[in-house]
Amino acid sequence: MTGTSVELTFSDREVVSFIADKSVSLLEAARKNGVHLASDCLSGTCQTCKCAMTGGEIAYEDERAISLDDGARAAGAILPCQAKPVSDAIKLNLPYTRTSQLPRRARKFLITAIKRVSDSVFEVIGKCEGGRMFAYLPGQYVNLTVPGTTIIRSYSMMTPPEQDEIGFLIRTLPNGAMSTYLSTSAKAGDVLPMTGPFGTFYRRRETGTCIMIAGGTGLAPVLSMLRERARRRDTAGPIVIAFGVNTDRDLFYRTELEALKATFPDLHVLVAAMSHGDGWRDSTGTAVDLLTGDLVGVPSAATAYLCGPPPMVESARHKLLEMGVSRAQIFAEEFQPTGAN
Ligand SMILES: Cc1cc2nc3c(=O)[nH]c(=O)nc-3n(C[C@H](O)[C@H](O)[C@H](O)COP(=O)(O)OP(=O)(O)OC[C@H]3O[C@@H](n4cnc5c(N)ncnc54)[C@H](O)[C@@H]3O)c2cc1C
Ligand code: FES
Repeated sequence: MTGTSVELTFSDREVVSFIADKSVSLLEAARKNGVHLASDCLSGTCQTCKCAMTGGEIAYEDERAISLDDGARAAGAILPCQAKPVSDAIKLNLPYTRTSQLPRRARKFLITAIKRVSDSVFEVIGKCEGGRMFAYLPGQYVNLTVPGTTIIRSYSMMTPPEQDEIGFLIRTLPNGAMSTYLSTSAKAGDVLPMTGPFGTFYRRRETGTCIMIAGGTGLAPVLSMLRERARRRDTAGPIVIAFGVNTDRDLFYRTELEALKATFPDLHVLVAAMSHGDGWRDSTGTAVDLLTGDLVGVPSAATAYLCGPPPMVESARHKLLEMGVSRAQIFAEEFQPTGAN
């Protein structure tokens, strides 16, 4: 396979880069790299995929199939469903955002396995009823309806896209609607209405240290991002995971986090509990307390992902800004309480 570098700039200025196989269309190369571009006919007719090329050179296998007129071509328009890279360093401007290309639909989530992984957290594994998995970006979430009710709650996937299973980590709260269902009656075979994907918390282009700060089940989207990186063999570069739980009895996935070190050579895993019994080997405090300057590397180059309860996210953002991490490189998902309804 011969490869060429491709840089995509979306309408919200998000930039995504990947190496494209020169033997396939740019649309197909993007898809293989987990980027879904607008398309419809796939034959060069409808122009749904039309975008502007600002660098590099492409060629079409069959020029006669291309519906662009001379004016559009002169203005730099190309059709990625038919265009194959010829030169290196292809640059495209897309007239839409990345998430707009992920269809949000009503689906059904079929539970295949459920187990408690700590005093307060359930691991819920399942698949889309009917079999067909849906496209999402690692870090995004879906809405699930509590069975037998119209109550909707949001949950972030802990699994990467493009695999058969989908998994969630769900913290239980006293008298919570979803919590009560999980603690009392949930079982394999149950089906929950599901819509999504939603959210703008997903992996972006990183340069320096990748800092991931997770409070409790805020670990779910962080795992989805790391598992996606592992699948794409994108494992180089410094990564710091700072993971905090309320008490030692709430801790889960300690072994799973350690195991990730076999895949990511420069991964540091730090764990803290606010309170714990004797024999606790990790830190005391919050996930934010774990973050020290020596872990961040060059702050202006670092990228941070924060996920968990709103106060934790706010305090992490504050600390990172004080350390010199750029506001534009801090991405966050707050698990806002939904409240009883
Ligand atoms: C975008 C997004 C993604 C999310 N992803 C996840 C996820 O991956 N895993 C996960 O566990 N949760 C996640 N949440 C939170 C989740 O949607 C529910 O709010 C949570 O599971 C509680 O639902 P429940 O029905 O059990 O409790 P509810 O019926 O909503 O609440 C029960 C009681 O607890 C109170 N309460 C609700 N939330 C909190 C809280 N955080 N702290 C203290 N008290 C609270 C309520 O006011 C109410 O009195 C996410 C939330 C958002 C907005
Ligand atoms: S998808 Fe129709 S022209 Fe490209």
